[in-house]
Amino acid sequence: MARIDTKTTSEIVAAHGAKPELLVQVLATIVKRFGWVPDDTIRQLASELNLSRADVHGVVEYYEDFRTAEPGKHIVKICQAEACQAMGSEKLTRYAEKSLAMSLHDTEKDITLEPVYCLGNCACSPAVMIDGKTFGRVDEKRFNEIIDHMRGSN
Ligand code: FES
Repeated sequence: MARIDTKTTSEIVAAHGAKPELLVQVLATIVKRFGWVPDDTIRQLASELNLSRADVHGVVEYYEDFRTAEPGKHIVKICQAEACQAMGSEKLTRYAEKSLAMSLHDTEKDITLEPVYCLGNCACSPAVMIDGKTFGRVDEKRFNEIIDHMRGSN
């Protein structure tokens, strides 16, 4: 994934009217296009939106999707919210960590493994999202199939 530059950051800020109250929307646009928010971008946003770095950092830290480290090519999210927990997402998470040889919040090779808190797919728990696509009733066998398919689509 490309790294955002200062010119593009300024353009995104301007497109949102350089309004500090639209910080979340500015960050969402950056993450949608680039996948993450580097530290120097946080500094620039604070300056251009007339906010403190702590203000921007606080918002970035609050939202799971506003990563501060570059993600892998593929983003695998496993739901950790209540309905999915009740249907075995914790066990599925341990399995995913073992089979992918990584921990939640890590990026290894081309995969980032992240927790997510409800994908709106509670009726089909446990739910997993891979590269923006949601899968329901994911057990270990189905998880392997989905990951194999993801790897095959490289
Ligand atoms: S709790 Fe997992 S999709 Fe809603």
